Amino acid sequence: MWRRQLFAKKSLDLVLAEMAGEHQLRRVLGPVALSSLGIGAIIGTGIFVLTGVAARQHAGPGLVLSFVVAGLACGFAALCYAEFASMAPIAGSAYTYAYVSLGELVAWIIGWDLVLEYAMASATVANGWAHYFLKFLGLFKSKAGTALVTIPFWLTTDPFTAATQHVDYQTARALEVATATAIPLGASATAPRLVLPVAEDSEINRVVKVEVVFTPESLAAVAKIHGRAAEASVARVQRAMQEQLQYEPKMSPAEKLAHVREDNLHGYEAYENTPLVFGSVRLTFNVVAIAIAAIITTILVIGIRESAGFNALMVVIKVAAVLFVIFAGIGYIDVTHWRPFMPYGWTGVLTGAAIIFFAYIGFDSVSTHAEEARNPAIDVPIGIISSLAICTVLYIAVAAVVTGMVPYPQIPLNAPIAGAFERFGLQAASVIITVGALTGITSVLLVMLLSQPRVLLAMARDGLLPPGFFGAVHPRFRTPHKGTIVTGLFCAVAAAFFPIEGLSEMVNIGTLFAFVVVCASVWLMRRVNPEARRPFRTPAVHFVAPAGIVFCLGLMIYLGPWTWVRFGGWLLLGLLIYFIYGRRHSVLGKALRDEISRHGITPAGTPLDGEPIENLSPNGDSLDGDPRGGDRKDEQEA
Ligand code: ALA
Repeated sequence: MWRRQLFAKKSLDLVLAEMAGEHQLRRVLGPVALSSLGIGAIIGTGIFVLTGVAARQHAGPGLVLSFVVAGLACGFAALCYAEFASMAPIAGSAYTYAYVSLGELVAWIIGWDLVLEYAMASATVANGWAHYFLKFLGLFKSKAGTALVTIPFWLTTDPFTAATQHVDYQTARALEVATATAIPLGASATAPRLVLPVAEDSEINRVVKVEVVFTPESLAAVAKIHGRAAEASVARVQRAMQEQLQYEPKMSPAEKLAHVREDNLHGYEAYENTPLVFGSVRLTFNVVAIAIAAIITTILVIGIRESAGFNALMVVIKVAAVLFVIFAGIGYIDVTHWRPFMPYGWTGVLTGAAIIFFAYIGFDSVSTHAEEARNPAIDVPIGIISSLAICTVLYIAVAAVVTGMVPYPQIPLNAPIAGAFERFGLQAASVIITVGALTGITSVLLVMLLSQPRVLLAMARDGLLPPGFFGAVHPRFRTPHKGTIVTGLFCAVAAAFFPIEGLSEMVNIGTLFAFVVVCASVWLMRRVNPEARRPFRTPAVHFVAPAGIVFCLGLMIYLGPWTWVRFGGWLLLGLLIYFIYGRRHSVLGKALRDEISRHGITPAGTPLDGEPIENLSPNGDSLDGDPRGGDRKDEQEA
């Protein structure tokens, strides 16, 4: 019997009835307000921070194509989301959609997976916020040019980054360059290699295929210090040097090695100076990320309603900052920086796409405002698709400008967009961008930390999580305070102790997986429930839905084996919780068991083996009258 419960579907009517029974929100949002809410949730850490990693380490100027590919994946998923959102115009999410179409087990997996999309994304966003906040603090300088406020590095660096940089700093200190050679840009691949550095008065300003070789003695010295970690560390230092020398072939390789060493200084110092030493473990953490997570969580517990007006103000500020980047930066583009366009080929472009996919996350949050939409069936799809389209255009332009302004290996990792302007001494521009980025990232954090407790609440309402905890609403503030605090704690801890790259990759794999399920569900629902009312129909669904699945799965593949292993572990943990708790406490499952123990038959009156249990309400009534809830009839026909 329990196997049937795994595929038990919640009736769409029941979901609608539940929503009606709760609070009815005022239908005040039109398409412009909804698009603005979408943009409010989209533009944040992805474009302002992750652009640096994606361009510098993977895609190069081909980042422009990475944004196109990730935008297409999201576009296909958005068209499918839009159909679902129009069918069930409720404050739902992929979790509710999956419960209606694919059954309880898949719904649980998606709900569990959404923790990655919302809670883990909040951690990534809080971490990105900290990057810009430190940049912001750095703007306040004394007359002598020293920073007025400083925070020790061990309080601003996660322990993984500190440990890696500690190793690489020592490696760069011990290494000695034996030879450095390259090929001039534009020369044939078989051209004789130049020895670096090229002469000061040489015409050559760009080279490619740089190869740095270290002396055997220095390599042995590194091996002695780091043992098995030496090889990977040497490879990181070598790669950084090779990338950067491409644009500075007149610099002595030894000097470049010193630069790479300096790049790792923060982590080195954090590791050396932390007072938190436990045996061989030296702990550092990011206190700024903890602080912003705590502040936003407190605000959400006390309860601010997401006000469309406040959101609109934040959106105006951050869109203005993005437009400023584009129009102020365009004059500083040097088109030679776009060559080579794809230094790491398509693999680099697609890996870059898998990383900056993060920048698009949030468009689906428009569907959570369906209850407040004036004409949800039309306005919500418009909101989803237009916010995504606007951001795609902006992102492509920003990627083109930033990679045109700064040679890709020199794009700063911490606050890349503001940093690009600083390279030209444009301090005022950097201030404007930093303030715009902080505002933008804060608004994303608000949405993410607000959405997670709502999903947990929906799951608790269905009995899949303890309702006493996740369903609890504060008597005075009327907010799901316990769920919000747990989410805030999760966000603070993850943001403080993990590097932004690792966090964002987990978010991306989880969200891409959720998108795959949404695309698959929409496609499946067309088959099993063809007559359902669909105010918005995904155009060319037989192309769009599979294309969404292929694109999202494809991007998942580029996220690397360790991210898959972690994701697998996360899903296993989720399944364990479901089988230990959720399956036993599920409202739908309980209704089924009650019915059978009372009558010895399934709800629709047929013997146990022979009747699907879809469309079962918690009180045991069958809900298969309406075509919108009537999966059973359609399935039999199909
Ligand atoms: N898209 C959101 C951001 O980039 C999550 O911050």
